[in-house]
Amino acid sequence: MGYIPDDIIDTVRIHSDIVEVVSRHVQLKRKGKNYTGLCPFHHERTPSFTVAPDKQFFYCFGCGAGGNVFKFLMMKENIAFYEAVSMLAERAGVILPSAENPAQREKERRLEGLRHLNSLAKDYFYHVLINHESAIEARQYLAARGLTREILERFQLGFAPPGWSSLIEHLGKKGYRPQDLLMAGLIAESGTGRYYDRFRSRIMFPIWDAVGRVVGFGGRVLDGSLPKYLNTPETSFFSKGRLLYGLHLARQSIRETGYVLLMEGYMDVITAHQYGLKNAVASLGTALTADHVRLLMNYSRNVVIAFDADNAGVAATVRGLDILQEHGCQVRVVSVPDGKDPDEFLRTNGQQSWEDLVGQALPLIEYKLQHALSRGPNRTVADKLEVMRQVFPSLTGANNVEKEEGLKAVARVLNLSWETVAGEFKRFQAKLGGKRSNADNIANSMHNILHKVERLDARGKAEAIILRLILDDPSLGVMILDEIGERPFKTPYYHNIFKHCMDLAGRPGYRPEEIFNILESEEQSVLSRLLMQDIPGENPDHILKAYIRSVNRCIRQDRKGDLLREIQEAERSGNHRQSNDLLRELMMLKEIDEAEKTGDHGRVAGLLQEYRQGPDLRQQ
Ligand code: UTP
Ligand code: MN
Repeated sequence: MGYIPDDIIDTVRIHSDIVEVVSRHVQLKRKGKNYTGLCPFHHERTPSFTVAPDKQFFYCFGCGAGGNVFKFLMMKENIAFYEAVSMLAERAGVILPSAENPAQREKERRLEGLRHLNSLAKDYFYHVLINHESAIEARQYLAARGLTREILERFQLGFAPPGWSSLIEHLGKKGYRPQDLLMAGLIAESGTGRYYDRFRSRIMFPIWDAVGRVVGFGGRVLDGSLPKYLNTPETSFFSKGRLLYGLHLARQSIRETGYVLLMEGYMDVITAHQYGLKNAVASLGTALTADHVRLLMNYSRNVVIAFDADNAGVAATVRGLDILQEHGCQVRVVSVPDGKDPDEFLRTNGQQSWEDLVGQALPLIEYKLQHALSRGPNRTVADKLEVMRQVFPSLTGANNVEKEEGLKAVARVLNLSWETVAGEFKRFQAKLGGKRSNADNIANSMHNILHKVERLDARGKAEAIILRLILDDPSLGVMILDEIGERPFKTPYYHNIFKHCMDLAGRPGYRPEEIFNILESEEQSVLSRLLMQDIPGENPDHILKAYIRSVNRCIRQDRKGDLLREIQEAERSGNHRQSNDLLRELMMLKEIDEAEKTGDHGRVAGLLQEYRQGPDLRQQ
């Protein structure tokens, strides 16, 4: 990985028309000055994915994905910024220089260093497992679970010896400091500041990213003690929500077989590979995230689920699978008989029986229905409604044929008429909120703050328009600081976008789109949304003033709420002086509100000035 200078990035961007690049993945239709199509990042039937050729960015009103041409490729191909620029540079015939930026290089080097340490640790654990006396029991354990020497090598399983500092010493001899090991998640620090090996007496499962770099570990105990698995701590570097165990070994087979075998555990994946099912991957004991789904969808949209058959888990995990369907994946579920997990089943019954099971895998909705039935007859109305509540989410992302089939199946199983079930489904969808599919709701609850923007309160709405105006004309920014305060924006990410805008504003030929490249991923989406919004009215100055008033009203409203609470508090503790001061402030705010209602802006301005110079620090 390298660093690319800004002017080269600009050159590449200018030579990569976003409409053309997106068109290679999405069928776009012209609509006014923009283009729309079906969003490639979530499942939808009516296009809410929009590309703005004049501003060269995209935004999806359904899932909130947004950004410039680089961001589009990064999301679509699941690649890093550098790779996206390289790809487009190649097409555009721009040659990337090998110049480097110290800060970027430093960051890359740091990450590379963490990966390198994890990789060294992996080698060490492997060496211990194969050779050390301390690992005899571990070797026996793994052999008893049927793992061959060859599979141990393929998955580079290892053993962390029992001492408190084996790894610290081993890597110390190679010149690595405990501080580095700590960053890499390999060791921990005690309350008294002593370092110790995080993983002790555990069988080590190295975890790779999709490209095949070691980023962390799961360490399993040999006995029944808890936790069964200890994992590398969560950081931006090692994030379970973005990793799938075994993916780097499964990629090719997924493409060849045309489907992903999604399992629960490290052991399931390893056994699957040993039995020739090389398209098996596992989430790391967490619920599936939208990032997982996007990662998978790079390889296939056909997902076969093979989760453990323990009854307690089934309902909860299967509910989490809706997210796959909502992103447009075809989901089928394997029922592993006799309460076994896939690992045990394969070992007992072999590959052929497994293939038979996969052949009988049920579409998600039918699986859910069967599950509902297996818990006994659904006689009461409440029972039937409960079943519907469980299975309907699987239908929201389905196409019309699937939906029709699904509703028929529900009617059959619950012994109801098709009309009744269809009516319930309609109500269910209405409750989800208009046309928005459940995918949107999931995206929302996962990590997308954008939908909160959609349900904006008055202040949020006003802030959006104010920031939109400033993006077009940064000279208005100063007014905001004067009239609202040093931190004018409360909506997440606005403050950062505002700051970047003010920083860039001085550059000749400033355009708001230039801010994209310095923003983080979420901020890019927020910026796309802001730029996509139309300015309500003709005169920016008037609009701005109106919305500044609106923000200040909201701030006062909040402050009044706080004041009431604080006054109560002060009175309760008998602090009359303080309560009097607070009361005076409250009266003053009310006076300002009154003055504003009469439309007397001069008087409002005067009162505001007086208020801000008041005894307290009242600048927000
Ligand atoms: P399982 O308990 O099914 O583990 O948890 P397993 O991989 O099948 O292991 P065996 O067969 O008991 O040896 C499924 C996955 O959940 C995560 C791990 O990723 C595990 O593979 N997990 C489980 C943890 O991270 N921590 C735990 O304590 C337990
Ligand atoms: Mn297991």
